[in-house]
Amino acid sequence: MSFYVTTPIFYGNGEPHLGHAYSAMAADILARHQRQRGEDVFYLTGTDEHGEPIAQAAEREGITPQQLVDRSAGQFRDMVAKVDATNDFFIRTTDPGHIERVQRVVEKVRENGYVYKGTWTGWYCPRCADFKNESEIGPGDTCPIHEIPLEREEEENWFFELSAFQEPLEKMYVQNPGMIQPDFRRNEALSFIRSGLRDVSLSRSKLSWGVPLTWDPDQVMYVWFDALLNYYTALGYAREDEDLTDRFWPASWHILAKDILKFHAVYWPAFLMAAGLEPPQRMYIHGYLLMGEKKMSKSLGNVLDPFEVIERFGADALRFYCFREVSFGQDGSISTAGFESRYETELANDFGNLASRSLAMVSRYRDGVVPRSAPDPVLSADFDGIVERVSGLLDEAQISQALEEIWTLVRRLNRYVEETQPWVLAKDEGDADRLDRVLYGLIEGLRILTLLLHPYLPNSTATLLGALGEDGLELADFGSGAGGGSVEKIEPLFPKLV
Ligand code: MSP
Repeated sequence: MSFYVTTPIFYGNGEPHLGHAYSAMAADILARHQRQRGEDVFYLTGTDEHGEPIAQAAEREGITPQQLVDRSAGQFRDMVAKVDATNDFFIRTTDPGHIERVQRVVEKVRENGYVYKGTWTGWYCPRCADFKNESEIGPGDTCPIHEIPLEREEEENWFFELSAFQEPLEKMYVQNPGMIQPDFRRNEALSFIRSGLRDVSLSRSKLSWGVPLTWDPDQVMYVWFDALLNYYTALGYAREDEDLTDRFWPASWHILAKDILKFHAVYWPAFLMAAGLEPPQRMYIHGYLLMGEKKMSKSLGNVLDPFEVIERFGADALRFYCFREVSFGQDGSISTAGFESRYETELANDFGNLASRSLAMVSRYRDGVVPRSAPDPVLSADFDGIVERVSGLLDEAQISQALEEIWTLVRRLNRYVEETQPWVLAKDEGDADRLDRVLYGLIEGLRILTLLLHPYLPNSTATLLGALGEDGLELADFGSGAGGGSVEKIEPLFPKLV
């Protein structure tokens, strides 16, 4: 089966921070897990490089918009690589391949009768570069975000007939209740749709930094349509020798944060329908990572630099922490102290120690060879169905819940060591069979958990799988290992912090 997962494309006028990395890590966990199941996976991320704020930022710096976005695309590419995301392509909306395809899709929308010329009159915030709806106007006709007076603007634009899709959208979400996850986000989208959809500007005439409309090149595409289309256009040119569209469209999952729900759940499927294209299968709306009480953002200056965190704790620890500390889908606070504490107690102690001591015991008591024994029924009972449970949760993009399932068994194996006390069994020849069974169970349990943890902890699990003599990443059931293989001792996977 094919599996296509995307992140939002990141604005090319900012520097990457942990909030961006969060979407990229989430999509990566799903992509890696599906690859382990042998699915045909495509994972897309990239940068959103058009629009007024970018043109303005470039002007302030005295460089061209292209220079600005070249620089920031490099920074985002680095960020994605540093968190060990295995994206199959990195799209930039200034790619000629994207621009060309955007133009073709919008022509189709026009041919289908959903584009017309009109005059937009309304309140405009120059800092947001956005025309404001009645509901988005602050007291005294001000911008609620920037707290500056709004300007009364009139602009001749091409419009997209969003209003024509109110019913089709409503029907789609009622008939496919799982399409937007978590459920409460679907309800938000539905109530927005039911409150009435107005047509929206499809183009802007005051800007030149964007994708020109082919039939009216003085106008450029409104940046959101240009940006959303990346999910579709990338498939057409990501590979020189193959158009991947039929293989991967519609997308399996769009991963995004709640601030851009409206664009993804309303504008995007409507635009696709207008072009005669299939809407995405599902979208998962995650919450915000907060530091203190505030959303992390560059303008607020409370950014936790993912590069610094990785430098100190490694990418695995960052990936683990973000999905362990904050339940995926909810907002949640993160902190440096929180990182340190989870690193020590869960990664270094629960998992790292379990791995080191299990391997060390096999080494000491059985010369590094895993006994050929049978699974201990007590452990089998706990491990029974774990692969299906974790897979089922990850099919629903329940990243934190899946991790919790796995961690319950990490703790279970630690208790098993305490209960069975292999070091006592080792003292008495009469307990040799029992010790064989315990060591087999420990190594087998560790192997299953390491495979399941691989999407979360790609580096440390690779080391561990090597020490376990495992050469594939395929998920396996407890008890499927035959024993008899050699294992090696390892250095601590998560060294204590100094
Ligand atoms: N360019 C648009 C997306 C276009 S997609 C067709 C955009 N870019 S962004 O760079 O501002 O944000 C990218 C993603 O990162 C968004 O989903 C955004 O909400 C997410 N995050 C930014 N800060 C965040 C946190 N503090 N916490 C979690 N995610 C947040 O929006």
